[in-house]
Amino acid sequence: MRVYKAVDYNDLSRKAANIISAQIIMKPDAVLGMATGSSPIGTYKQLVEWYKKGDLDFSEIKTINLDEYMGIGPENEQSYHFYMRTNLFDHVNIKPENTFIPDGLEEDGEKECARYDEVINSCGGIDLQLLGIGGNGHIGFNEPGTSFGKTTHQVALSESTIEANSRFFSSIDEVPKYAYSMGIKNIMQAKNILLIASGINKAEALQKAFFGPITPAVPASILQLHNNVTIVADEDALSAAKW
Ligand code: GLP
Repeated sequence: MRVYKAVDYNDLSRKAANIISAQIIMKPDAVLGMATGSSPIGTYKQLVEWYKKGDLDFSEIKTINLDEYMGIGPENEQSYHFYMRTNLFDHVNIKPENTFIPDGLEEDGEKECARYDEVINSCGGIDLQLLGIGGNGHIGFNEPGTSFGKTTHQVALSESTIEANSRFFSSIDEVPKYAYSMGIKNIMQAKNILLIASGINKAEALQKAFFGPITPAVPASILQLHNNVTIVADEDALSAAKW
């Protein structure tokens, strides 16, 4: 595990974008695992800037997102489809057919989860998986208690996640209660993992994930067993442990 301390969110975003850029440069047809939430917004913004300067080429890159809410479509502003288009895809030369996100409108869970696992396999696995972390230690939408052996699955979101994500919706009642998420097994099969975290409300989750027992109660704790984890976090997020 490598830990890079960022002085602030801007620095965190540049460091994370640098690591992703290095992956793109070293392997122009890399498969990038993408995350959503507020943490990666600055990272995507930085990647777009470097693309516009001519420093990055996404033409052969494939992206596979971690998760998507169920019951809302790609045109819904809160969907992760919409997030990815507005924060990254619409601003770089990635081919739309090379971007993959679970289909939140597919009601047949078994079918959608099998399809998504097949997407990951047919891309040859993920070279670099970007991750945020939930305040309760979730990664993707793998909530506490989720078995480490799961691949893509349907998730009932926890109360704390619904509450945390309600800031993006006009009311808490609008937050979807279910989602599709890559499983911990899919995440652990990524060749490299880049976890970003900023702010004091992530400090306890990071401490538990990397210094506590490896347990499904803290989904991110499984990352202790991954050979290639890089953490980029600010001082507040790192403040609950001696890194
Ligand atoms: C959501 C996403 C996760 C993300 C987490 C933290 O639940 N599904 O992938 O890591 O929130 O989000 P934020 O970065 O906004 O704190």
